[in-house]
Amino acid sequence: MSARKIIIDTDPGQDDAVAILLALASPDEIELLGITAVAGNVPLALTARNARIVCELAGRPDIPVYAGCERPLGRPLVTAEHVHGETGLNGPMLPDPTMPLQQEHAVDFIIRTLREQEAGSVTLCPLGPLTNIAMAFAKAPDIVDRVARIVLMGGAYFEVGNITPSAEFNIYVDPQAADIVFKSGSDITVMPLDVTHKALVTKARNDAFRALGTPVGRAVAEMTDFFERFDREKYHSDGAPLHDPCVTAWLIRPDLFHGRRVNVEIETVSELTMGMTVADWWGVTDRPANALFIGDVDADGFFNLLTERLGRL
Ligand code: BDR
Ligand code: CA
Repeated sequence: MSARKIIIDTDPGQDDAVAILLALASPDEIELLGITAVAGNVPLALTARNARIVCELAGRPDIPVYAGCERPLGRPLVTAEHVHGETGLNGPMLPDPTMPLQQEHAVDFIIRTLREQEAGSVTLCPLGPLTNIAMAFAKAPDIVDRVARIVLMGGAYFEVGNITPSAEFNIYVDPQAADIVFKSGSDITVMPLDVTHKALVTKARNDAFRALGTPVGRAVAEMTDFFERFDREKYHSDGAPLHDPCVTAWLIRPDLFHGRRVNVEIETVSELTMGMTVADWWGVTDRPANALFIGDVDADGFFNLLTERLGRL
């Protein structure tokens, strides 16, 4: 089977960085057409910078990186420096990028790529707020039917929320955008907190990254070390959840994951539950399924895959 063409839309973020590295380490399965940056964990200037730092860390300055939307569609930007640090990529000391940022706007790149590539051949992989994707769908509705599928990190059902008691960060930051995407009719696979909270970087798993003995292995270990301090304190868990790499891992080894096709709707009105992903997990409505909502992962299989692939870079 030929490699799956993807666009990663992202707000790096240490876990976004690991998701990108996993994609770049897996050329047999994944052809990364470009990276589009969006405001999220940190403001856009930093996410666009961090995406290029990660490409250079992987030795891939040829990957085109585009800057997209600097704020959500209808709300002020909420960021997460308290989790990711003030650069978004705190932890390892990595050099400033020298590769250029592309001139084209990320939204235009998404539209152009979906029109130029064969219909049904490009998968969108959003790892941050869905602003760029929703803008592209609103600006060019003809591209929606050309998307192969969307595989995104966002939302929660049983785990409910991490930025508010009822909402996960990526969906909370731009609920209007998420609403557009979930109503688009695209084939969507969702990696919610329900699954990412099972992908914990325990000490042994982090040691395995470090033991690769490569610049990538060390950088990933230092990123997760940093990222971890927040989640350990918050959840008293064995380690930090590695959210976004679940997306790229699913593209390579979907057999490691299990979920249900359900209806997912986004709360966009109530401030109390803003950005909640209302997933009909138990099938109590007749609303049609619009997403494959993942709930479980073989965590050892996931970390074995990740470590083996990072070792190739
Ligand atoms: C999501 O929010 C961000 O902080 C992470 O990068 C991930 O995409 C988890 O809620
Ligand atoms: Ca992210």
